[in-house]
Amino acid sequence: MKRKMLYAGSFDPVTNGHVDLINRSARLCDRLIVAVAENLSKKARYSVEDRLRMLRSAVAHLDNVETDSFTGLLADYAKRRNVEAVVRGLRATMDFEYELQMAHMNARLYENDVETLFLMSSPSYSFVSSSLVSEVFMLGGDVEGLVPGPVLDYMKSIR
Ligand code: COA
Repeated sequence: MKRKMLYAGSFDPVTNGHVDLINRSARLCDRLIVAVAENLSKKARYSVEDRLRMLRSAVAHLDNVETDSFTGLLADYAKRRNVEAVVRGLRATMDFEYELQMAHMNARLYENDVETLFLMSSPSYSFVSSSLVSEVFMLGGDVEGLVPGPVLDYMKSIR
């Protein structure tokens, strides 16, 4: 049986921390869907189109990864796409409470059709978040090495 998994997030923008998780998740399944969530409760810095464009450039090296975007509930999208598991990354204990709450709510919505799978983020990126990267970038700081090269180029091109 082919294993299909989903990694969803705001990816605003995608960072090397996300890419680390994508690389590792892609090894665990036959097909990985990486999906940009149009998160209504979070004000986005980049449009969905820009986030998808950056994401595509960041995963171009992976054959079994496809990119997409969705609105509405993650659980509905996961079921619609027939994935077996949704991957989440844990950077530090600060992520745990929020992730646990989401995992429990989603477990209820998944109705046993989907599992939540947690991977520990690599320690080299445990301090990285999209908002921190964006803030440093906007204020002229160096974010090289924190986002993929093509993503940084794109961020510069639309600044
Ligand atoms: N490396 C670097 N940064 C990471 C990371 C990693 N491995 N893992 C998480 N982060 C950062 C992100 O950059 C992001 O930073 P920011 O807040 O500064 O932008 C933050 O951690 C949260 O990341 P993300 O994983 O993208 O979560 P999110 O909160 O933006 O979105 C969804 C999570 C999309 C899964 C969730 O909002 C969702 O399910 N939305 C759909 C609506 C829904 O179903 N709601 C009910 C949920 S029970």
